[in-house]
Amino acid sequence: MTGGAGYIGAHVVKSLLENDFKVVVVDDLSTGLERKIPEQAIFEKQNISDTKKLAEIMKKHNVTGVVHLAAKKAVGESMTNPSLYYQENIGGIISLLEAMNQANVKKIVYSSSAAVYGDPVEEKVHENSQTHPQSPYGETKLVGEWLLKADEKARDIEWIALRYFNVVGAALPELGDTGVNNLVPMIFRALDNKQRPQVFGDKYSTTDGSCIRDYIHVSDLAHAHVLAAQKLITEKYCGIINVGTGQGFSVKQVMNTVSKVIGKDVNFEISQPRPGDPAQTVADVKKAASDLKWQATNDLESMVTSAWQAWQKMPPANN
Ligand code: UD1
Repeated sequence: MTGGAGYIGAHVVKSLLENDFKVVVVDDLSTGLERKIPEQAIFEKQNISDTKKLAEIMKKHNVTGVVHLAAKKAVGESMTNPSLYYQENIGGIISLLEAMNQANVKKIVYSSSAAVYGDPVEEKVHENSQTHPQSPYGETKLVGEWLLKADEKARDIEWIALRYFNVVGAALPELGDTGVNNLVPMIFRALDNKQRPQVFGDKYSTTDGSCIRDYIHVSDLAHAHVLAAQKLITEKYCGIINVGTGQGFSVKQVMNTVSKVIGKDVNFEISQPRPGDPAQTVADVKKAASDLKWQATNDLESMVTSAWQAWQKMPPANN
């Protein structure tokens, strides 16, 4: 498991352990936190760019499959520093696939992203929808999928790429998102700073004019990784699977849900649209239901409630 000390990674580790997997966490702690790694997991502090070390770790612990989350994930930063993203994310997965080859490990679950779709033309995007990533971040996630397909042919690997939609919430307050890059934490930060949360544009062609996204609880997303790993153990499979709820919510609806959860009107204001934001990105989740027997169980209110509890317990340090 790479990236197991990060926000989503720590949730995946927790779910894997709860489902009786033996977990070795490889994380360089560049953004992850060691306190998030449970005692039952073995921890190897290691950057994934060192192929030799990775192969040694896999052999030492008799690793039979990899869940790969270690990557850089801030879309804005990827626009200003694209080579960092190409280096870390594509260099990272190349190194990992090479190490897997050296250690004869053939199965991998990969963290991909709805960012590969870009500005979708369909109301709901399915796994065969066209991919037009709008950022270097999204491009690196797509290239990662291509590398998996290539290694399926070249080295017989089996893989599942999970395309995450908009991840929110926490399974436990101490596992909250410590970055403030996304809508829900940005609302919380504005409130902490006694500022009005911003709706980036309300002239989109959506029901209330603000952007629509498919928000998914991090615990549901984590469980999808367990099912994906189990599938690769029990059958031969290679493919891409969307992980969302299949239901879209507008930014204004999210604001109103936050108001309800915190028991106070957040008093949002409308500001300029953010360049590059698609009006609507919602997942078609039929494949997750048919191939993984997975569906989301948490609604938006439970995502926001758990995120709020985590924020109150541990707001990010540089708030
Ligand atoms: C983007 C990526 C996604 C990535 C995520 C991580 C795309 C298409 N998607 O999602 O893959 O995982 O970033 O950073 O590139 N908004 C406001 N006010 C705010 C903050 C956000 O109105 O203060 C709006 C945005 O305009 C957007 C929605 O809220 O419509 C969600 O934004 P955000 O949480 O940043 O995620 P995405 O941009 O959808």
